[in-house]
Amino acid sequence: MKKDVRALYLEFFKNKGHKIYPSMPLVPDDASLLFTNAGMVQFKDIFTGKIPVPSPNIATSSQLCIRAGGKHNDLENVGYTSRHHTLFEMLGNFSFGAYFKKEAIAYAWEFVTEVLGFSKEVLYVTVHESDDEAFKLWCEHIEPSRIKRMGDKDNFWQMGDTGPCGPCSEIFVDQGEEFFKSDEDYFGGDGDRFLEIWNLVFMQYERDESGKLTPLPKPSIDTGMGLERVMALLEGKRSNFDSSLFMPLIHKVEEITGVKYIYESGASFRVIADHARAVAFLLAQGVNFDKEGRGYVLRRILRRAIRHGYLLGLREPFLYKVLECVCENMGMHYEYLLEKKNAILMQCKNEEERFFETLENGMNLFNKEVFKLKSENGKGSFSGEVAFKLYDTYGFPLDLTQDMLRESGLPLDLDGFEECMKKQKELARANWKGSQEAQKEGDFKELLNVFGENCFVGYTTMQENSKILALLDSNFKRVENLSKGVAGYVFLDSTPFYPESGGPIGDKGVLRFEGKEIAKVVDTKKYFGLNISKINVLEELKSDMQVQSEVDKERFEIAKHHSATHLLHKALREVLGEHIAQAGSLVEANRLRFDFSHPKPLSKEELEKIEMCVNEEILNAHTQITEQMGIEAARAKGAMALFGEKYGEVVRVVSFGDSIELCGGIHVENTAHIGSFYIVKESGVSSGVRRIEAVCGKAGYLYGKNAILQVSQAKEQLKAQDLIQGISKLKEQLKSAKDKGSKENINTNSLNIENFQGINLIISQTDMENIKECIDTFKNQHEKVAILLINNEGKIAAGVKNAPIKAGLWVKEVAQAMGGNGGGRDDFATAGGKDLDRIQEALKIAKDFFMKNL
Ligand code: ALA
Repeated sequence: MKKDVRALYLEFFKNKGHKIYPSMPLVPDDASLLFTNAGMVQFKDIFTGKIPVPSPNIATSSQLCIRAGGKHNDLENVGYTSRHHTLFEMLGNFSFGAYFKKEAIAYAWEFVTEVLGFSKEVLYVTVHESDDEAFKLWCEHIEPSRIKRMGDKDNFWQMGDTGPCGPCSEIFVDQGEEFFKSDEDYFGGDGDRFLEIWNLVFMQYERDESGKLTPLPKPSIDTGMGLERVMALLEGKRSNFDSSLFMPLIHKVEEITGVKYIYESGASFRVIADHARAVAFLLAQGVNFDKEGRGYVLRRILRRAIRHGYLLGLREPFLYKVLECVCENMGMHYEYLLEKKNAILMQCKNEEERFFETLENGMNLFNKEVFKLKSENGKGSFSGEVAFKLYDTYGFPLDLTQDMLRESGLPLDLDGFEECMKKQKELARANWKGSQEAQKEGDFKELLNVFGENCFVGYTTMQENSKILALLDSNFKRVENLSKGVAGYVFLDSTPFYPESGGPIGDKGVLRFEGKEIAKVVDTKKYFGLNISKINVLEELKSDMQVQSEVDKERFEIAKHHSATHLLHKALREVLGEHIAQAGSLVEANRLRFDFSHPKPLSKEELEKIEMCVNEEILNAHTQITEQMGIEAARAKGAMALFGEKYGEVVRVVSFGDSIELCGGIHVENTAHIGSFYIVKESGVSSGVRRIEAVCGKAGYLYGKNAILQVSQAKEQLKAQDLIQGISKLKEQLKSAKDKGSKENINTNSLNIENFQGINLIISQTDMENIKECIDTFKNQHEKVAILLINNEGKIAAGVKNAPIKAGLWVKEVAQAMGGNGGGRDDFATAGGKDLDRIQEALKIAKDFFMKNL
């Protein structure tokens, strides 16, 4: 009969008084750790005494762990051994100063032999070479010859470079020599014959950054048993990958590739099966592909899997199909895998597409380098820098580059590669150190011991009469008073200030004493469960003071953006589909940012629909309904959760109409208070993750107002332009009207026509500008013409048709009379007169000249 090892384990320890804890998230709340790498991570502050011991003081869990990157890194081994994984489940029991070696050993022995039913004949144990006590205790259960003493390398365990640690004792199962015949299959060798299944750590020290070990407040117990190994052993399999946990995944790979899995040559199948699990869980828990940090480890895991798919002949995305299989197989126990299935498959496929592009490019770079080397003389080594570039930029693991080089018969400049790698690691480490040192050293434990957690009253009020329980300086050290002008922290007995969490930022406000402002609250956060506000001191503060604490009105605006975020989440699912899952959120007083899984940019129409949807829900004026309920009830109600395990057993559910979310935050009482909602920007964060930025409340009003203002300014500008255009048009019209008018009026009103011997004569001053046209017109109207005009600017023109007078000579005579000059043809001529005072005289001379020539 197949055993449910996980359930048996938790039940066994529950019956021995242990409290069952859910698996904590894979991303721990600790910048010094890449991933949760052991069951003890969620208890580390209890071991080191930073927070008080809970009741009961013994615990058990089945913890999802990742050992890729960071101190415990198995990534490079996965696929090539039968027992290494990136993601695995660790069963553990923990004692926080309750029991120690004796009970831990006795429980382990009982579970292994009686519950799991392993024969004593196949069991061995190890102890630390210095640990006579453990040796003696084991002798009560097992032959002394089966107890091996080992050194620090095998039997001293620590969480990371720093943190809790201690000597340990491991339990091994001998799988027999029948199938394990390699040189390494001796006890302590690298072969798989003697398989370690359980590690009992006798937690006794904390290691600091200098490497110094300090004894823990109380000797404690931390144990870890790999679920995958035990399952395989119980199912009689030689490799974890042959067990029922992995075979469905391997079959899936067979189906996709059409290649049959053979254990001896099946590393690529195992890599894909293993990595698909890690990728599925990391994506489902909100880690995204990234260029650095955790997201980069995720990317490396995926790319390693793709490379192995490539080796199996695949040239297009396939891993997402294996992920589907993971979700279906493990969704029974980890429901969020099913909830997020569509989203994570899409994210995975997108990332695969990207790598299939760089894979080809990487190959080209590799081939170019090989070609260069061979054409030089074939004796150099493959550049470490290029290998690093392949690794770092094109995502080629070092072993792939080495494999390919082996085929080309070229050595690799490994030192060069490692030099680059070292530089990159130093950079990465510096990134992970974080700035949390002060917090680690803070007096939080003392506060917890003396006062316990404080009370948050801010859901229903913005003001409270609070007592200052404690003051902390800027290094979180407890002080009796804080003097005027300094910055520090205040711990109030009951506080209306909401601490930063998830999306919303922490509250700001003031503290008053007898009506006078004595401190500005600039931020509020939770530290080890304590709600603590950061303050700038205006007047000296003392512990035990009674103060009036008041939250800044900005809180209303934060609440509006927070509630709008819920409506947006709902609208996204309605418009884009159920695959939408939250991937990050920021909520401030004047903006909100929401990241979510979606494979492509949103269209203008989609954005408009989403914005409309949110505004409709605002206008529907839904009242906030907040309830406390069990996680199962919340799920049944349709609440949207990040992933189940993050929450305790009883959760707070906030609803506005159909928007139902697990949420501990502060919201508006009614959606109508949100005001107008505008989407300001849509962009991409990483592959498969989009970001929407939006405003509402006062910021929404200002955004709308500003938009209207811009439109009206633009209109004004347009109007002014219209006006200018209109004026020049009018001017043109005026001019042409004038010209037209002058043509029409030429022989009627303005000019005097005389007749001499049938010749129509005009000699006149005029205000017309274009006298030439006027003359042409007049000539066209009559058979016999002599016309001479002088305009107000002194321009002179003459036209002659069938008359005995030469126009050129005529204007010359007239121009000279006005101090100017000119001339031209016999039938038409122009000239310029300078002396405008002599126009009348000139006209007279013109008449005389005409008469003389008749
Ligand atoms: N924390 C110990 C380990 O991971 C049990 O092996």
